[in-house]
Amino acid sequence: MNGFHYRDGQLYADDVPISTLAQTTPTPFYCYSRTQIQHNYRHLENALHEAGLKNTQICYALKANSNLAVIAALAECGAGGDIVSGGELVRAMKGGIAPDKIVFSGVGKTAAEIDAALTANIARFNVESMSEIDMLSQRAKALGKRAHVSARINPDIKAGGHAKMSTGKAEDKFGIAWHEADAAYAHITAQEALVADGIDIHIGSQICALAPFKAAFTRLADLLAHLRGRGHTITHLDVGGGLGIAYEPNATPLDIAAYARLVQEELGQSDCHITFEPGRALVADAGVLITRIIRTKPNFLIVDASMSELIRPTLYDAYHHIAPVIEPADNASDSTSNITYDIVGAVCETGDFLGHGRTLPPLQADDLLSVFCTGAYGQVQASNYNTRPRAAEIMVAGAQHEIVRPRETLDAMLAGEITMLAGKTTGQRGGL
Ligand code: LLP
Repeated sequence: MNGFHYRDGQLYADDVPISTLAQTTPTPFYCYSRTQIQHNYRHLENALHEAGLKNTQICYALKANSNLAVIAALAECGAGGDIVSGGELVRAMKGGIAPDKIVFSGVGKTAAEIDAALTANIARFNVESMSEIDMLSQRAKALGKRAHVSARINPDIKAGGHAKMSTGKAEDKFGIAWHEADAAYAHITAQEALVADGIDIHIGSQICALAPFKAAFTRLADLLAHLRGRGHTITHLDVGGGLGIAYEPNATPLDIAAYARLVQEELGQSDCHITFEPGRALVADAGVLITRIIRTKPNFLIVDASMSELIRPTLYDAYHHIAPVIEPADNASDSTSNITYDIVGAVCETGDFLGHGRTLPPLQADDLLSVFCTGAYGQVQASNYNTRPRAAEIMVAGAQHEIVRPRETLDAMLAGEITMLAGKTTGQRGGL
């Protein structure tokens, strides 16, 4: 399955030519394939099933892409949601995810966010500190609720595609230290409004090898046995997300079937319900960022997308494959007329680039390029830097397409700002 492919010399999203979309939607824009998103979900679900895991729930990590159409596509397949803010709670429910399939992660939940989640009756809170346990207990008591709680235990394991994506090392801000686990469970158990019936881990993101997962699951199984030995009734395990994908054409992604077998081997006998929190693996390859060349100068393509639309190259030195929307000729890859370009945006930062040293056929102003595997951590990490409106998002499903979020307007961007010039403040609030 490949939602984005060349057909008759041009790039298609499912059955829709990208160039047709670019005729009516100004670039840059994100384009997602609903078919690919749902395929990715079912691929993981089948792998879990085939490995013999029965009592499971995939809770999509909304942070990867929280467009309502993306959430709805996954909700339709039965996905739950892993949220990290009150805003994501609202999105999850609007996208059709049932509250009893929502888990709330994150180190800095506020009292207001906790109240909203308690009121919505979400499935469970993944707590990350002793003080969060206190706040959750207090809020649950005040609202007359009982909350199911997993402590997120930091297993002190190094994993992830980049130092900024590691979350499971002792020095990272995430989770409760391993040596504090006993104290944390004693503390949760002491709270009448809380039920200490789960354990949660998440070690990092973009992990393509099985070894770090194996180390983490082994530690998790040990902790489960230990806590049960101390009389805790643990019925839920949450193994986090982190499943890595292939960004470079020849890279090897995490083997999902092998990952599922590993979970079965390490945790299958635990008699626990197991939650998975994948983000990237469900949506990354289901999205492309389409950008137009504004102008060229020797060895540079200056395009209308930038670090404001896609910050991953700037922030993590991330590689995204970039190719023309009009398919290069078969022999183009070794043609002597090829040019090595830096593909850069218009933002006033040296660090503003989408790709360095990319060898492509000669290109010119107005040509369209596709930046691949941008369905995860693309638009959600976009900014208005340099007062650039956020790009439109289009969802394709077979031969249908829909603008699922229009390009932001300058009016919307400026609404709410005032100049505070003496005597002229009134009436200045609002757009252009
Ligand atoms: N669960 C928790 C608690 C997480 O913190 C994360 C990601 C996930 C699940 C989903 O991880 P995934 O399956 O997507 O790897 N902005 C970075 C990625 C940061 C990931 C943060 N946490 C990027 O652009 O690569």
